[in-house]
Amino acid sequence: MKLLVTGGAGYVGSVCAARLLEAGHEVVVVDDLSTGHADAIPDGCKFVEADIAEAAGDLLADSFDGVLHFAAKSLVGESMQEPFKYWHGNVVTSLRLLEAVREHGTPRLVFSSTAATYGEPENVPITEDAPTRPTNTYGATKLAIDHAISSYAAAHGLAAVSLRYFNVAGAHGAFGERHTVETHLIPIVLQVALGQREQVQMFGDDWPTEDGTCVRDYIHVTDLADAHLLALEHAQPGTHRVYNLGNGTGFSVKQVIDTCRKVTGHPIPALVAPRRAGDPATLVASSQRAREELSWEPARADLERIVRDAWEFTRSRNQG
Ligand code: UFG
Repeated sequence: MKLLVTGGAGYVGSVCAARLLEAGHEVVVVDDLSTGHADAIPDGCKFVEADIAEAAGDLLADSFDGVLHFAAKSLVGESMQEPFKYWHGNVVTSLRLLEAVREHGTPRLVFSSTAATYGEPENVPITEDAPTRPTNTYGATKLAIDHAISSYAAAHGLAAVSLRYFNVAGAHGAFGERHTVETHLIPIVLQVALGQREQVQMFGDDWPTEDGTCVRDYIHVTDLADAHLLALEHAQPGTHRVYNLGNGTGFSVKQVIDTCRKVTGHPIPALVAPRRAGDPATLVASSQRAREELSWEPARADLERIVRDAWEFTRSRNQG
């Protein structure tokens, strides 16, 4: 297939672009490089540096089989401070993209949605029919886009899939996580192991969980990318289907830090800090729907494997 990948210079976008190329697809990346890195885009992709809202119409005129839409503002804390950046950057941009998709009759769309659309869950593991009550602006914008996609699928026959990511981690060889502003747990802990930080702060140890720290469902970025390939194959015209992507197992902040200690051999000093606003205690996915309907089977579910791949990537980048 000939595929347009928005945000292909970012973490998940670049891994998916690499995976799509490996599977024999033709990939065009569009990215404004506001948070991504040009050198993260896999060799073999055509790259267009542009604002997606402005460029989508012209790009899609060149008959594509599908769009994978990763480009987004994705910092939860920032989304609470600067809502315009998120409503405009995520929702307005996605609407422009959807209009270009409609105008040029692009048949398929796979969208990066998020577990943050659910907010504080009533039941764990979280299924796709759980209530969507996002607790932050980031999640609210992603949910709004999900609703817009449903409308476009119903009205214009688009074959659409939203993938709701839980905590994406790990690396796919030379493609990994390198945010300029890092807020995610595993990369922060690995920065301590590399000597770039003194210690890691654990945001709260009085949560209603077994060891008092927050529990999350970590998913390997390669397994996540593979779900996108399956979503492209299974998308049905006129239908918008939503799938959660996680491993169905939760790990606490303390367990993650312990795993990082084991993998890196570094003591990784950790101290308890106040809770971070907006954090739910436990987020664990039920990915049964993706397993059943997409035949998705995560092959790298082991946390040690996820951390090891992230560590290899981080170390090689810092040596090189
Ligand atoms: N944490 C710490 N110390 C840190 C960083 C994080 O204790 O220095 C904790 C957080 O409080 C949380 C856990 O580690 O309990 C994981 O935090 P991350 O920031 O790595 O990930 P989140 O669970 O907050 O959010 C991630 C993505 C969101 C997405 C969400 C869905 O960043 O975009 O997963 O589950 F919406």
